[in-house]
Amino acid sequence: MPAYLLDVDTGIDDALALAYLAALPDTEFVAVTATHGNVDADQVARNTLALLELCGRPGVEVAIGARGPLSIPLTTTPETHGPQGIGYAVLPGPAGQVSARNAVDLWIEHARARPGELTALITAPLTNFALALRREPELPDLLAKVVIMGGSFYHQGNTTPTAEWNTHVDPHAAKEVYAAYRGRQPEKLPIVCSLDTTERMELHPAHVEALARAAGAAAPELVLPGDPEGLRSTSGNTLVRHLSDALRFYFEFHRHYDQGYLAHVHDFFAAGVAAGTLEYTARPATVDVETDSPLLMGTTVADFRGLWGAPPNARVVSGNNPEQAFRELVSAVGSLARRVG
Ligand code: BDR
Ligand code: CA
Repeated sequence: MPAYLLDVDTGIDDALALAYLAALPDTEFVAVTATHGNVDADQVARNTLALLELCGRPGVEVAIGARGPLSIPLTTTPETHGPQGIGYAVLPGPAGQVSARNAVDLWIEHARARPGELTALITAPLTNFALALRREPELPDLLAKVVIMGGSFYHQGNTTPTAEWNTHVDPHAAKEVYAAYRGRQPEKLPIVCSLDTTERMELHPAHVEALARAAGAAAPELVLPGDPEGLRSTSGNTLVRHLSDALRFYFEFHRHYDQGYLAHVHDFFAAGVAAGTLEYTARPATVDVETDSPLLMGTTVADFRGLWGAPPNARVVSGNNPEQAFRELVSAVGSLARRVG
């Protein structure tokens, strides 16, 4: 049974990643921790708790760690994910409470208690993970697998011309994380899902419609490019309604940036890589992050050819299969929505 430590900044595509993992029958959420990013950490924690409850997973410990990046001021992105971070969706207030424990303590405690058992998935800036690595440098050996959504290598950035959002929010943390993996065994290196492959994950309105159909929704769930912006779903299925409202916002955002009426669902792809359910290929690389140049702040660089003379510290995903991934998403989250209503 795959057991996960997750760190998220929920977030529309984080929400889809959580719903997908919740949909898999054998997922154990050991703890889910919240990092600032798309919205502030407290809002992330509330969103995450509410969403897990909607997905039929009450009682998961959701905790906050740092409330800002290691060395620079916090930026959030309400224009990308909506004021609450879930697009147009307004999730019900969670029945549970955000844990009073510290996210970094939780990661270290669980990793030590279950050496070699836990899969870590980080779909947010790397602040909490960097802090955990400072406190427990053996974390890379204690964790069974680490998957990170972040970076942009031979692909344009989505925040600056060269930088990806998660890395841009806390570039110093990302730099520390990659430095901590220098000299580690190849099978322990983090699997990095960068924009190079996550921007191939183009979710379209037809996927929302198919998901609602798989959920057994009474009426077709139509999210159309010609709809007035901000229209809300009337689906009788609560999970479908919230995901549809979330994704409509993301479609409009991507269209606003001339990418079409679609949504890049980065974090869902990373979740599938963590779960081992989505097809991908990866290449070893030495990764570093620019933290000094104002022009290139947060830019990730991968040396695939050993030009720096430094051993690989990451496995960078180089190929994926969006068609297979969306089939899997529609079927898994559709069945979950059918179950939880
Ligand atoms: C990443 O940034 C966030 O806005 C998304 O949730 C994803 O994790 C993509 O750059
Ligand atoms: Ca995210």
